[in-house]
Amino acid sequence: MPRIYITTPIYYVNGDPHLGSAYTMLITDTLARYYRARGWETFYLTGTDEHGDKIAQAAAEAGMSPKELTDRVSTAFRAAWDTCDITYDHFIRTTDPYHIRYVQELLTKVYETGDIFFDRYSGLYCVGCERFYTQKELRDGKCPDHLTEPKLIEEENYFFRMSKYQERLLRHIEAHPDFIRPEGFKNEVVAMLREPLGDLCISRPKSRLTWGIEIPFDQRYVTYVWFDALINYLSALKYKGEDVFTKFWPEAQHFIGKDILKPHGVFWPTMLMAAGLPLYKHLNVHGFWTVEGQKMSKSLGNVISPLAMKEKIGLDAFRYFLLRESVFGQDADFREESLTARYNADLANNLGNLVNRTLAMQERYFKGVVQPLSDPVPELDQRLAATFAQAATEVEHHVANLALSRALEAIFRATDQANKYITETAPFTLVKDPASLPRVGAVLHNLLEALRVAAQLLSPFLPDACAKIFALLNLPAEQIRAYDLPWGKAFVPGHAVQKPQPLFPRLV
Ligand code: MSP
Repeated sequence: MPRIYITTPIYYVNGDPHLGSAYTMLITDTLARYYRARGWETFYLTGTDEHGDKIAQAAAEAGMSPKELTDRVSTAFRAAWDTCDITYDHFIRTTDPYHIRYVQELLTKVYETGDIFFDRYSGLYCVGCERFYTQKELRDGKCPDHLTEPKLIEEENYFFRMSKYQERLLRHIEAHPDFIRPEGFKNEVVAMLREPLGDLCISRPKSRLTWGIEIPFDQRYVTYVWFDALINYLSALKYKGEDVFTKFWPEAQHFIGKDILKPHGVFWPTMLMAAGLPLYKHLNVHGFWTVEGQKMSKSLGNVISPLAMKEKIGLDAFRYFLLRESVFGQDADFREESLTARYNADLANNLGNLVNRTLAMQERYFKGVVQPLSDPVPELDQRLAATFAQAATEVEHHVANLALSRALEAIFRATDQANKYITETAPFTLVKDPASLPRVGAVLHNLLEALRVAAQLLSPFLPDACAKIFALLNLPAEQIRAYDLPWGKAFVPGHAVQKPQPLFPRLV
């Protein structure tokens, strides 16, 4: 049985879920649903990243202990993803005892192999990024992400001998060109690896920070938050059992935003090498969303909340817009105007209309009862079936390449053809002649098939609407998963479908 292990970044608990985190969740949730429905053994992980300076500071500002803050915000994250019907298999918190134990175990192992050493260090540290910067990486002396001046910090710390694995990682990437996708991000990592890499400072003295996982071989220190956080991808599987770990780790596909490319593309694989573990299969890197052309920020007051979007237009419409409007790996812009336009054109006029017209005619002409197909099968009917078969093939190809917007485009091209088929066959005219009634029944039967296949292909993307379509078609859940059911075999003549119900009322 094929397998996939899908991970999201674990979110910092110093903010609320927003468009950026929701985007990663919707992509990964769609993929998890897609692979599960096709019989793959799937493990889908998300969670919260709770240690480090940033969280300690946020807690101090909120007048809470870090523990209180992390409990509260982590619960809120989990609740938000539950409200958004995200089908994760496990939610990890880096404050979970099993995670802490595993991080310490791994640190000890790498320490014992000699790849962790103690040294004196001075460097420029950005609290926002929780990492040291080299002069070269700064822009006008400031962190390019946070636009703040890093602090000069001098102290004794533990270091991970990252540079030792630089060449080996380069060779791995050359041998596996799709290790990091899309290609542009692979090239960025390769460029990082062609510069001297240096070693990674992986501890923080407790005199400066206590909110972290204690270094098991020196109680004066806690672990650098990234060294702790990345290990969540392993500890969650270990927690589920050694067999789960063995089955899923080699199939790991991480999904991240482009701002955390270096930790995932450089730190993480070298850490895995030092721990003597196989590398993940793919690092999939997505772009950033702006809102009406601007960076999303609390101060601009333009932060998009997935929960508010659910209230406003419904989850499926939000999912559809984010997945259809963006090309994986590229930046995208969230505009109210494009949201309305896409919703009305694709969801209301194309899919919604197809459902509505088909079921309304089925009800009006046949009281909802399915009629036989035409025999022999006319060319128009053959063409419609072929269009949906083609869409299914395209969806498979595009999803494997993470081109989710192209997969959606292929499905909506097919439903558009089905709407054209209504115009071409004109059942509303034929019905006036009693002799043509069998043909009208056959046309509607083909349209029901179009709806079934469309709903099947769309259900990982629009789970809620597709569940409604299946309920209207009065088909049992097994039919949703029956991908190899040939056209014309799903509805037995005599089967009754439901009256239409509006799925996507037009937005004004
Ligand atoms: N805690 C780290 C990840 C550790 S993974 C071992 C972190 N957390 S985060 O909460 O700051 O960011 C989580 C994710 O949200 C990142 O993948 C980031 O790229 C993504 N996004 C944040 N803002 C975004 C947009 N405006 N657009 C798209 N994604 C964005 O980083």
